Amino acid sequence: MAQPILTYGNPILRQTARAVSNIDGELQRLIDDMVETMHEAPGVGLAANQVGSLRRVFVANPSEDHDPSRLLVLINPELVEAEGESVAEEGCLSIPDFREEVRRARRVLLRGLDRNERPVEVEGQDLLARVLQHELDHLNGTLFVDRLSPAKRDILLRKLKKAFRIKRA
Ligand code: NI
Repeated sequence: MAQPILTYGNPILRQTARAVSNIDGELQRLIDDMVETMHEAPGVGLAANQVGSLRRVFVANPSEDHDPSRLLVLINPELVEAEGESVAEEGCLSIPDFREEVRRARRVLLRGLDRNERPVEVEGQDLLARVLQHELDHLNGTLFVDRLSPAKRDILLRKLKKAFRIKRA
């Protein structure tokens, strides 16, 4: 079932997700919920923090039509390689209506487990690389706003404070 997505200001988005030691039925349900939530939003990626769980897992699907063959589920992901540089506009389901240009590596290689507990490597370039880095950041309590230059960040943080004050009250 699709879950509500936590928004900017919620402290869970700032916490580090904990490594998954047991891929149990509860985790499988969480993954199903995350996939539904991501597709319904719609978005190209979602980390567990965003639905209020601190288990170290994210889902991603960089295809426009939610092609199930392109769905990625990564448990305990680790960044193994990063190279190049790319600047592009980025948003986040937890910070709706705000987009900024963010500098990222152009190509990354991540290692982790799939939902069947098999070790997997995921390599991404351009959009997929961006999504993978963004979701991995979430699991470490980092948001794209943290990746901006100090000046751009200050301006955005002031806007976010205003925009999300009402929702939190
Ligand atoms: Ni996000």
